[in-house]
Amino acid sequence: MKAVVCSALTEWGLPPALTLMDWPSRAPGPGDIRVALHAGGVNFGDLLVTTGRYQVKLTPPFVLGTEGAGIVAECGAGVTKFKAGDRVLLQNNDVRACFADEVTLPAARAVHVPAGIRLTDIAGFPLNFGTSYYALAHRAALRAGDVLAVHGASGGVGLAAVKLGKMMGATVIATGGDDEKLRAVQAEGADFTVNYRTEPLAERIRELTRDRGADVSFDPVGGDVFDAAMRSTAIDGRLLVVGFAGGRIPAAPANRILFGGLSVVGAPYGGFTQRNPERWAELMSGLLDKVRDGALKPLVHRRFGFDQAAEALQMVAERKVIGKCVLMSDRGLAEIATDCASSSDVI
Ligand SMILES: NC(=O)c1ccc[n+]([C@@H]2O[C@H](COP(=O)([O-])OP(=O)(O)OC[C@H]3O[C@@H](n4cnc5c(N)ncnc54)[C@H](OP(=O)(O)O)[C@@H]3O)[C@@H](O)[C@H]2O)c1
Repeated sequence: MKAVVCSALTEWGLPPALTLMDWPSRAPGPGDIRVALHAGGVNFGDLLVTTGRYQVKLTPPFVLGTEGAGIVAECGAGVTKFKAGDRVLLQNNDVRACFADEVTLPAARAVHVPAGIRLTDIAGFPLNFGTSYYALAHRAALRAGDVLAVHGASGGVGLAAVKLGKMMGATVIATGGDDEKLRAVQAEGADFTVNYRTEPLAERIRELTRDRGADVSFDPVGGDVFDAAMRSTAIDGRLLVVGFAGGRIPAAPANRILFGGLSVVGAPYGGFTQRNPERWAELMSGLLDKVRDGALKPLVHRRFGFDQAAEALQMVAERKVIGKCVLMSDRGLAEIATDCASSSDVI
């Protein structure tokens, strides 16, 4: 099979060392499925892996890619949930290896894709929408009528949180560092936007909420943005710690937590999916039903071929992506060529 292989770890900021090359495929063991992939989602986490900054260190050469969508090619002994030919969505934190023609993984890490959803439209869905839904619904108990502040809102998990927040009935304040990207986020549903490069973040959120602050703050950026989120989350509010895209891991002053009645809540989605594969499958299938019904519309910013993997990752590194990009195999390219029904692309 063909796979996007990371041949060496690189410094942060330099292009990743990725090559499309032949790679051995793996027959499914008991409980596994082998999936012929249409596409894989490109994540910030892939950059962390190629620069050796991810919590799990991989030694090159290895195949990149955590999530994807495709068609079941073969089932290992004992698999009853799937049969060859089923359309599946998968997330594969342990094995990774989704930037490839095919991947073999435990059947528990895949779910059925409802008819009518194009596989290349959904390949980048599991990590972003799974993380954001787990954070908002399971960790912060977001309610209809809440004010939700989503920081880094143009990014993968940020834009998913905006869309999920609107679906769940919240008023959404989207923050980011670029006016053009913020306009795109507003077009995707955010009620208000704040540019944290040009405006005082905490003060603007307090102004927009008549000094109350946000009931729920969603923070995948960290650093100064987290500090501002501490000052702009309402009394008895919930501040979700999702990630540190900005680089600095912040510290939460305990006096603010005490006097603000704040719940500072971690959202370790990767760990959740590994510990609870059944709950993950239930969560993901529920979200896919929302996509099928038109209540959720994932955005694919740009589609690349596998041979353009380094370019796609560089775009993430340069903060040029709105939402998510996907990398397509030849099957994915063929799906796009034969089906122009989707209108979810920006470009
Ligand atoms: N908790 C979990 O299970 C989980 C799951 C997935 C991801 N994450 C983490 O969440 C964070 C965001 O992931 P993502 O997929 O949304 O990434 P992304 O698509 O690259 O988006 C990150 C956003 O953060 C903002 N940002 C601010 N400072 C930045 C900087 N120095 N470098 C890059 N971006 C910066 C950018 O918006 P502006 O340009 O508008 O500032 C960007 O749109 C990462 O730390 C990732 O590891 C956590």
